Amino acid sequence: MALVRGAQGNNRGGAAEDHQFLDILPPADCQGGEAVSKAVINPSLCTSCNICAEVCPGTFGEPSSDPGIPKLAPDFMCLDCGHCVAVCPTGAIAHRAFPAGTIRPVEDGGRVPTYEEVMSLLRTRRSVRVFRDRAVEKDVILKVLEGARFAPSATNTQSTEYVVVTDRGLLRQVAELTSAILSGSGGAGDPYAFVYGLIAEDMEKGRDPILRGAPALIVAHAFSRANYAGVNASVALQNAVLAASSLGLGTLWAGYVMSVCRRDERVPALLSIPDGHQVYGALALGYPKYEYRHWVERRPLRVTWL
Ligand SMILES: Cc1cc2nc3c(=O)[nH]c(=O)nc-3n(C[C@H](O)[C@H](O)[C@H](O)COP(=O)(O)O)c2cc1C
Ligand code: SF4
Ligand code: SF4
Repeated sequence: MALVRGAQGNNRGGAAEDHQFLDILPPADCQGGEAVSKAVINPSLCTSCNICAEVCPGTFGEPSSDPGIPKLAPDFMCLDCGHCVAVCPTGAIAHRAFPAGTIRPVEDGGRVPTYEEVMSLLRTRRSVRVFRDRAVEKDVILKVLEGARFAPSATNTQSTEYVVVTDRGLLRQVAELTSAILSGSGGAGDPYAFVYGLIAEDMEKGRDPILRGAPALIVAHAFSRANYAGVNASVALQNAVLAASSLGLGTLWAGYVMSVCRRDERVPALLSIPDGHQVYGALALGYPKYEYRHWVERRPLRVTWL
């Protein structure tokens, strides 16, 4: 069996034809500095339950030829997702991406909010357009982003990065530049040209129909060639939205800002978005001025069952 030298980092971009799928070998077989995978199994703790291999996203083909040795992703296929170390009932797996101290027990015996609690959060989240004149503390914004950090991402790239704007002057500049770009873009036949005119008028009068005067703006960006960069950013931001709701904060997807970032370099430049990155989402954030005491219905589900 060929051994593949362990490489640091997530190297799943490597050429698959250079390698073959390998069984994880117990440490005794990895002596001499060669590692078969990023994961190493302690045979004295392993019960051969094979759960780690079942949940591993990087295993294909036949199961391990040795029933005592689970087959995990070879180095070049490993997503660093941590499913193996998180699921192993006996703590038998060490993994280079998760050094000691980074694998933690699930809190509260794994209790999760009830369906009713989750639905209450989902139904009462609304797009907030009136914010209190109160800054959002940095530690609170970090809690919101901590929710985003645990979002799923295609091949676990965790591609989304953030710019957070809390400077009032810069927030106003973003709103004004967005409005100016919108005004310049609405050619004849654009159904939104009329709205862009109204936005510009409001901006001139000191109002803010773009960011609604929110005291913070979270901008999600990523290397534009990352796998599913846009989807990853969207799901991460929606995690942030829900984390924000749970903290009593309100959010508004800043679609006008997002739309101008797609077609004009000036707002991304103002936001210090790095070269090669694209803006994939933006959230206005703040403490809501008003409390919603009711929730309203959505359109009925449209589902095709096949
Ligand atoms: C847009 C997107 C596409 C994905 N596609 C697949 C897929 O085709 N197969 C798969 O096994 N996992 C897929 N995943 C799951 C990711 O691999 C997973 O989110 C990541 O490894 C992190 O693991 P976690 O979601 O368990 O935290 C996808 C995730 C996203 C966001
Ligand atoms: S989950 Fe743990 S105990 Fe089960 S086969 Fe994998 S390493 Fe062994
Ligand atoms: S970290 Fe994920 S992909 Fe890598 S071996 Fe473990 S379960 Fe498989």
